[in-house]
Amino acid sequence: MITVPVPLAERSYDVHIGTPAVDEVANVFARALGKTSGVALIIDGQLAQISPRAAALSEALGKRFPGCKTYRLPAGEAAKSLAEVERTCQWLAENGFDRGASLIAIGGGATSDHVGFVAAIYLRGVQFAICSTTVLGMVDASVGGKTGVDLQAGKNLVGAFFQPRAVVADLGFLDTLPRREQAAGLAEVVKAGLIADADLLSRLEVDAAANRIFSEEALLHAIAAAVRVKVDVVAGDERESGRRAILNFGHTVGHALESESAYELLHGEAVALGMVAALAFGGHRGVTAPGLQARATAILSRIGLPVDVARRVTPAVLARIEVDKKRAADRLKFVFVPRAGEATLQDVALTELQRTLPEALAAGAVSG
Ligand SMILES: NC(=O)c1ccc[n+]([C@@H]2O[C@H](COP(=O)([O-])OP(=O)(O)OC[C@H]3O[C@@H](n4cnc5c(N)ncnc54)[C@H](O)[C@@H]3O)[C@@H](O)[C@H]2O)c1
Ligand SMILES: [Zn+2]
Repeated sequence: MITVPVPLAERSYDVHIGTPAVDEVANVFARALGKTSGVALIIDGQLAQISPRAAALSEALGKRFPGCKTYRLPAGEAAKSLAEVERTCQWLAENGFDRGASLIAIGGGATSDHVGFVAAIYLRGVQFAICSTTVLGMVDASVGGKTGVDLQAGKNLVGAFFQPRAVVADLGFLDTLPRREQAAGLAEVVKAGLIADADLLSRLEVDAAANRIFSEEALLHAIAAAVRVKVDVVAGDERESGRRAILNFGHTVGHALESESAYELLHGEAVALGMVAALAFGGHRGVTAPGLQARATAILSRIGLPVDVARRVTPAVLARIEVDKKRAADRLKFVFVPRAGEATLQDVALTELQRTLPEALAAGAVSG
């Protein structure tokens, strides 16, 4: 296992990445949670049904934490509602969990976002830990302490910053994760390489070209490197005031594409397209080195992610690009990647982005 420490003073914890024996996962949680009055395993209901490893892990946790109880959440995003949060809290209360209890989330980003938020608010806060079972969950959702759920008005509108006591990014779960979900998670790994780790990008390039990017070995290193990037960025900016914004690379246009597709596109797919757009826009403005767009496009398409952004950036998509709420009404902080492994924020007028992006995409010859 590779261990990446998350240094956040008294809220510090470790992310353990690998394919450990299930007993070892249970031991990691036992060490991190320490003395606890009770343990609730809160698991993605679909995962519980289809994953043999989920059954084995539950059994190991049952031995390590005698008397622990299991709660099954609706699969994926369906867990991210206030109604489901209420249901989980109600279940915890009915089962006698007190302030000294611990929650263990087993699932992808939706599960850890739900459980983290419940942990933040149940009895004004109980400790929790995460066993992450998706690539996106491992490299993004389980690191950084953002928790929360959706409203009808939009995604992630209600939440809290709340750090787990430990995270296990358990690659043993990826056998059952559909290839499309794995690829979508890898979009955030490519992002990490582009904004902060040139070696990671080179490695992805080699592994993608050799068609071994989904091998356990390649995934282990790629996921660990991406976790390090996210940890470095959030450790310097826990509450998202400055540098953490570079993690939004590819997300300005990505979010617009994601919502315009009515969530037909997976988040990572939209981010892949958004990164190609951001590199084209950067190239057009002379910020991004020539050739980087082509390099990134090659890696993304080898992973199986969509890159045909020129065709997809319609006037409706451009109209959906959101400005930064904290800034002047018509301006946004756009994340550019000047060269592999570097990111910079620049103030851009929304109208300029909307006007120039189609030209930049046409010039970049990124066609469908
Ligand atoms: N908190 C953060 O900082 C942060 C960052 C990025 C994303 N997120 C959130 O994470 C969520 C997306 O995460 P996700 O992509 O992991 O989605 P997810 O948790 O919805 O999981 C995707 C699907 O895969 C299934 N699944 C999970 N693990 C599996 C496995 N090992 N085998 C087979 N199926 C499995 C789930 O049942 C679900 O249907 C979004 O809600 C997003 O808002 C949060
Ligand atoms: Zn993202």
